[in-house]
Amino acid sequence: MSKIGLFYGPEGGNVENVAKVIASKIDSSLFTLHKVKDADAELLSSYSCIILGLSTLGKHNWSSDNSGNDWDNFLPKLKGLDLKGKKIAIFGLGDHIAYADFFVDSMGDLAQIIEQTGGNLIGKVSGDGYEFNESRAFDDGEFVGLPLDEDFESDLTDKRVSKWLEIILPEFEK
Ligand SMILES: Cc1cc2nc3c(=O)[nH]c(=O)nc-3n(C[C@H](O)[C@H](O)[C@H](O)COP(=O)(O)O)c2cc1C
Repeated sequence: MSKIGLFYGPEGGNVENVAKVIASKIDSSLFTLHKVKDADAELLSSYSCIILGLSTLGKHNWSSDNSGNDWDNFLPKLKGLDLKGKKIAIFGLGDHIAYADFFVDSMGDLAQIIEQTGGNLIGKVSGDGYEFNESRAFDDGEFVGLPLDEDFESDLTDKRVSKWLEIILPEFEK
């Protein structure tokens, strides 16, 4: 298997905790953890297998003028890249109770940008077992990546991550 680049942000919260859970379930020789805060486009492009982790913090989208968080700063570096042939899986933290109308929206926005770069999105997850009203990350019965809710469903995270890795790791090996 090619080495996996696991990029996440922000640090110090649920995304980082989940990134570490994912890391604990993969052979350490197979991946490198990176904070998006410290990463640039060249580093991302150097991997053929990529996992991206983020949270949805507010209703803004990245086309508006934001400079507040790690992803707001990293996204402009991603736009315009050629990621053709790269396998990319996304996990997204959200809150399905307080933000039921915007559940893990940022995961959907990121997926759109990845598709514009030609990247091959893998690791879509069925909506079965999730409760929410609306999500930009949900289309035709599937999420574009793995949604996780550490605020209200932290007991499900470990199992959801394991199941997701069973799907994406064999894909990375192909
Ligand atoms: C100001 C704020 C806005 C949020 N907006 C959303 C949202 O629109 N959709 C959603 O699913 N979760 C939303 N959340 C929930 C976070 O995504 C969730 O708590 C996540 O676990 C935070 O992870 P982090 O601490 O690593 O950033 C919001 C949380 C905060 C504090």
